Amino acid sequence: MIKDRVKKIYKAKISEIKQVAATSYFIEIQADSPIEVKAGQFISIYCDGLTLRRPFSVFSNNNGKIGILFKERGKGTKYIKSLKVGDSIDIIGPLGNSFNITSKKALLIGAGIGVAPISYLKEKLDEKDIENYFVCGFQNKDEIPSGVKIDKICTDDGSYGEIGSVLNYLQWLIESYNPEVIYACGPYIVLKNIAQLGIKNGIETQVAMEKVMACGIGVCRGCVINLKKDGQIVNATVCKDGPVFDGSEVVWQ
Ligand SMILES: Cc1cc2nc3c(=O)[nH]c(=O)nc-3n(C[C@H](O)[C@H](O)[C@H](O)COP(=O)(O)OP(=O)(O)OC[C@H]3O[C@@H](n4cnc5c(N)ncnc54)[C@H](O)[C@@H]3O)c2cc1C
Ligand code: FES
Repeated sequence: MIKDRVKKIYKAKISEIKQVAATSYFIEIQADSPIEVKAGQFISIYCDGLTLRRPFSVFSNNNGKIGILFKERGKGTKYIKSLKVGDSIDIIGPLGNSFNITSKKALLIGAGIGVAPISYLKEKLDEKDIENYFVCGFQNKDEIPSGVKIDKICTDDGSYGEIGSVLNYLQWLIESYNPEVIYACGPYIVLKNIAQLGIKNGIETQVAMEKVMACGIGVCRGCVINLKKDGQIVNATVCKDGPVFDGSEVVWQ
């Protein structure tokens, strides 16, 4: 995966905020100077009154306006949701490594809010004319965010698109679409299954992982996972060494 160590604190203003699904929101942040962001990288947002910044994948980046797609969970996301156009926030970014983009035919998988970095990746692949197919899974039709270009949608309750988890279609997608690489973001169990299917079918997988983060810059070691490299188990931080990892190297629990 590509490592990028450039990061900066930006004073920024909210230029747009809107609800895009039952529990998800889009905000666009205009930084004081343009920010170059690679697909898979994230920013961390200071939330008023909270000690720890909250990390969010970059979903879009248009002329210095960074977009994120977020799901309301606790105090931090409630705070971000309460912001209004013109309000100031401070962000650090871009953080972490990025997807390694090659010309390989790509299957893109986003589960839940994991759609955000994969949608940005799709934009980058499309810009380079790299063949790709984007499949997403959501709990139900109300959780499908508006404004995201998706090729196939699955819902757990069958209220839209294919019925059931995106994982139910994965083996079939691999056989019918014949991808050379799978890029994915979503819950841990989804990524674990994707990595295992990748190994079984001999396909490279690149997975964007999430871990609850404290420092966000590789110092506190609070977001460590284990990787297998050359027969050895080594530690890696999701915030600095990741969040994108080779699925076949992750030691899945
Ligand atoms: C690299 C990275 C990229 C992310 N990208 C996105 C994104 O694009 N959109 C999005 O909606 N969310 C994303 N997340 C998750 C997001 O950071 C958490 O939802 C957010 O920090 C929760 O903050 P809170 O104060 O609202 O909730 P808290 O009150 O802190 O927690 C509420 C719930 O959220 C869970 N939670 C807290 N932090 C995380 C975390 N880092 N990962 C997963 N669950 C968490 C807690 O376990 C708890 O159950 C990302 C996380 C990481 C590490
Ligand atoms: S959050 Fe501190 S090392 Fe990753």
